[in-house]
Amino acid sequence: MDKLILGIESSCDETAAAVSVNGRKILSNIVYSQIDEHKKYGGVVPEIASRRHCENILTTVREALNSAGAGLSDLDGIAVTYAPGLIGALLVGTSFAKGLSMAASLPLIPVHHIAGHIASNYIAHEDLEPPFLCLVASGGHTMIAKVTDYTHFEILGTTRDDAAGEAFDKCARVLGYPYPGGVHIDRAASRGDSTLYKLPTPHLSGNELDFSFSGLKTAVINLVHNAEQKGETIDGDSLAAAFQKTASDYLTEKAMTAAELTGAKKLALAGGVSANSGVRSALEKACAERNISLYMPPLSLCGDNGAMIACQGYYELMAGNTAGEDLNAIATLPLGS
Ligand code: KG4
Ligand code: ZN
Repeated sequence: MDKLILGIESSCDETAAAVSVNGRKILSNIVYSQIDEHKKYGGVVPEIASRRHCENILTTVREALNSAGAGLSDLDGIAVTYAPGLIGALLVGTSFAKGLSMAASLPLIPVHHIAGHIASNYIAHEDLEPPFLCLVASGGHTMIAKVTDYTHFEILGTTRDDAAGEAFDKCARVLGYPYPGGVHIDRAASRGDSTLYKLPTPHLSGNELDFSFSGLKTAVINLVHNAEQKGETIDGDSLAAAFQKTASDYLTEKAMTAAELTGAKKLALAGGVSANSGVRSALEKACAERNISLYMPPLSLCGDNGAMIACQGYYELMAGNTAGEDLNAIATLPLGS
């Protein structure tokens, strides 16, 4: 019997809901983005995010059910992002899902946001099954995780400072682009010459699978500020290209080291930065050279969405990971803990 899961996501600035079938197929995927409003402030304003989630969540869920042609009685569970994220934002989705699960007498399934991002790959790649390695790069997280099975994760390396997406956003800001800047860096990079500026590749002692992005970000910011002080002009497109190339090569090099150390032959990519053309092509090239199968989410599922939560929710339900009545939202929670 097919299992239909409603997935609800409200951890940051997207109110999203979707209906999945057996963790692999999507019947609907509705995303209400608040970005235009947060743009004015140069980043996500937590209180505004919570209020917009509160206003939009019922409509979003209703639309997801309607466009899936499903009613509450067709569902087998309600999955919700309960961690990590902005606490006020998470509380809206979590509380809504709790109420709905009670009203519909359905299991409530808590989903970790990063596990959701990883699951976005199951939708596009029917053949992808754990175990595999996953490079996660989003606005809040950057890590290499070993996906040992659908609901178990081991973090092999993580960022010691900024997340990759954060570095993209900060560089975009100093180059005059609005929030979120990753996509603007991507477009600017395609017009620039990546060899015009030399940027440092971060080096860390200790775990060789850990990341650091603050030095690279600061180098870009300093370059722009120094030029401004001297009255010199910067070739913004080429600086964007240099930054994107350095960041992409760095992420790729870490993923390849992880594959070498673990002997993994399957690598997935996940999180908002997985939409980046430089990251995608660097990984494609490196994986082809090493005979590693690479799995990347389609561009439509790279950012936050309900489909990934609905799909991971299916696997959590199959593993018996349902929540009790006291489920709470958690702002900071490492994947796999
Ligand atoms: O996963 P996500 O939607 O939200 C979090 O869970 O954080 O990731 C958002 C991040 C932002 O930093 C955004 O700038 C970045 O993903 N991003 C990109 C691109 N599209 C989105 N970064 C680089 N290139 C892109 N094309
Ligand atoms: Zn995300």
